[in-house]
Amino acid sequence: MRGSMASGQLSREEALACVGCRHACHILLYADTEAQLFEEIPIRHIVLMQMRFDGLLGFPGGLVDPSEESLEEGLSRELWEELGFSLSVTLEDHVSSCHNPSSSSSHLITHFYARRMEEKEIREVEKAAASTATDHGHEVMGMVRVPLYTLKGGEGGLPSFLSHSFIGNSRSQLEDALVRFGLVTPEELQTALTHAEQRRK
Ligand code: GTP
Ligand code: MN
Ligand code: MN
Ligand code: MN
Ligand code: MN
Ligand code: MN
Repeated sequence: MRGSMASGQLSREEALACVGCRHACHILLYADTEAQLFEEIPIRHIVLMQMRFDGLLGFPGGLVDPSEESLEEGLSRELWEELGFSLSVTLEDHVSSCHNPSSSSSHLITHFYARRMEEKEIREVEKAAASTATDHGHEVMGMVRVPLYTLKGGEGGLPSFLSHSFIGNSRSQLEDALVRFGLVTPEELQTALTHAEQRRK
């Protein structure tokens, strides 16, 4: 595995003890699906990311000030703004917290969460995100599903997706979660990364 997630990791408690740190919380929403692409290629899982206002891919969520609300309350609020969907995030959804090397003066800690849903619920999230979400068309240009398969030829699918540009360390959050939650095998991810690397050359 790539070491990007391992470096700079800290516990949620250590993160909250940091004086002067800013905090951002984002979440990966996923579901199992029986759907097939071209009635042939199993989609296996729906994994949601978003196209941000700045043209970068990232996860739904945002900045949280722990002096005003808990990390999970703040993330739930951001999900309401960005997805138009009421989801009560809990401590059990927490996956990791990470120091972010940032250029700005105040240090940013990114907290990552994940929640498994039913396919039906994910579809409701997508519907709300494209219609009633207050941030739709402003901070968020739209939700996207991550293709987990690799098409014949080796580039289409996950390798192409990983070749896009991502905000902050959201790309390593994605890679880590795909393997952690068994959405792709470590071998599948490695193969996709190799092809993605070749694509960028
Ligand atoms: P405003 O409401 O405009 O303040 O935006 P926001 O609160 O929704 O914040 P945003 O989602 O942009 O996240 C804040 C910061 O966290 C960004 O400037 C990035 O540096 C970082 N960030 C954004 N998305 C992600 C993500 O998916 N993963 C990680 N690790 N960091 C992210
Ligand atoms: Mn078609
Ligand atoms: Mn936001
Ligand atoms: Mn956001
Ligand atoms: Mn915000
Ligand atoms: Mn906002």
